[in-house]
Formats: sequence, C-alpha cells, structure tokens
Amino acid sequence: MQTRIIDGTGLARRVREEWRERAQALAGRGCRPGLAVVIVGDDPASRAYVRNKIRACAELGLHSEQVELPAEASEAELLARIAALNADPAIHGILVQLPLPKHIAAERVILAIAPEKDVDGFHPLNVGLLATGHPRFAPCTPAGVMLMLEREGIDPWAKHAVIVGASNIVGKPMALLLLSRGATVTLCNSKTRDLAAHTRAADILVAAVGRPKLVTGDMVKPGAVVIDVGINRLADGKLVGDVDTAAVMGVASHVTPVPGGVGPMTVTMLVVNTVLAAERACEAGRPKEPAT
Ligand code: GUN
Repeated sequence: MQTRIIDGTGLARRVREEWRERAQALAGRGCRPGLAVVIVGDDPASRAYVRNKIRACAELGLHSEQVELPAEASEAELLARIAALNADPAIHGILVQLPLPKHIAAERVILAIAPEKDVDGFHPLNVGLLATGHPRFAPCTPAGVMLMLEREGIDPWAKHAVIVGASNIVGKPMALLLLSRGATVTLCNSKTRDLAAHTRAADILVAAVGRPKLVTGDMVKPGAVVIDVGINRLADGKLVGDVDTAAVMGVASHVTPVPGGVGPMTVTMLVVNTVLAAERACEAGRPKEPAT
C-alpha cells in the first residue's frame, strides 16, 4: 500500500491564510484580535513552543503579548497577572504554557482564566461544553487533528478510532471530538493491557503518549490512518514522534510526520481560537441594531 504523508506545514499555511482575512476584517472594525502567552520559568522546549505561537500571531496580524515570569514566581503572582489579562480589553485569548513549576497548581491557574478567553479550551467550563457537544474552544492539538482529517477527506463517521494516551491536553478531548463526529472510540492509557491488540483494531490511530517510536508497523492495521502527536527529542538531538514512521510506511494509508505534521496545526488552531474569541467579544460589545 502507498502511504500518504500528510503535510501539516502546508495545510497549516493554507488555514492561516484563510483566517488572516477574518482577523483583518475584525481589525478593520477596531477589534484587532489579541493573544497573551504566559510562560513561567525557562524550560527550553516551552520557550520554543511559545516563540512559535507569538510568531504565528504576527503572521496573521494579531496583537500578542508574552508575559514572562521567573521559575520561582509564586502562584499568587501568576494569578494576579491572569486577573489583569482577564480585564484587558486588548486581550481576547490567554494561554498559560504548561507544564508549570511544581509549586504552582495548574488546576487553580486554569480555573482563574476567564472561560471566554480560554483559547486552550482547558477551563472546566469549556471541557464540559465540549463533553456535552457544544464546544466553545476545542483544545488546539485535537482540533488541529480534526481539521487535518477533514481536509484529507477522512470522515471519522462509524470508524473505529483508537487513541493512545489519555491526557487532558490531547487524549481526552481527542476522544470527545472523534465521538462527536460519529467514531467509535477506544481511549488507551498506561495501564491498558495488550496495547497492540487495541491499536491493530484502529481505522484511525492517534498516538499521544510521548514515548519515542512506541507504535511499530505490526501495531497498525493495513490501511489505517496514523496520526502522530508525539514530539520527543532523542539524546542525539533528533526529533521523533510516538510512531516509528519508517515502519508504518506501506502499512498505513496515511501518516503524519514529525516534525511537520500535527505541530504546525496546533499553533494554527490557537490563532483560530483567538480570532474566534475576538469575534465573539466584539460582537457582544456591539450595540444591537434597532428592531424595525
Ligand atoms: N504544553 C504542551 N501543549 C500545550 C498546549 O496545548 N497548551 C498549553 N497551554 N501548554 C501546553
């Protein structure tokens, strides 16, 4: 079987082009979308992710602010910065880069973000809306995967989707989004017995565990779509995903590469969610047309 490598970089570029116009239209009405990215500490990987996010904002003409706090900043300091961003009319989206230092409770921080500015979709209110089928902000990585499937003409309806990794950021929301599109979903976690038996049953296989090359060729059903969400840096500095890409070539119908697959889509969906947040905020603030 010929395996198609899905070009996430090219797709992300096209999607950003489409959303640039919506962002410009808003800016023209005096409502330039604005994103604040908060980073605590100086983890090099987190810094690189944040740089990409700020760069994507600039590409689409969004306003962006990077709020940097030292690793020893207190939870109270971080909560105070979030409160200020919640009240700032130039900011429509707030993202606090995870993971946070151990002395800060991520749940309390996420809870402090105004739900209408929670472009990550991590606030329990937004998680609940997604779970009940009324998403306000879908978390960026799984939303990017869904858009990728759609643009590749892959319909999850009545397919068996197997997700490896049940994190709040990727696995769980991925399961909810696929379920909402009619897939039968299996969500595997670190305790799952005979993982390969599950992955071999997948029409759509999503790997999101952070274990280099966990998914090998014999774990994939011939013709399956394989989505690799993992980004792992090996000792030699090389970036690899959770899938042994070379090993699934010729078995899968589609596979996403690392780098250049899901990663660029994640950043794109953050910009999309920020433009959506700005559209809603500016729409809500506009005087209603008088009834005729
Ligand atoms: N760390 C890794 N992925 C993400 C993400 O999607 N959002 C945030 N805020 N932090 C992350």
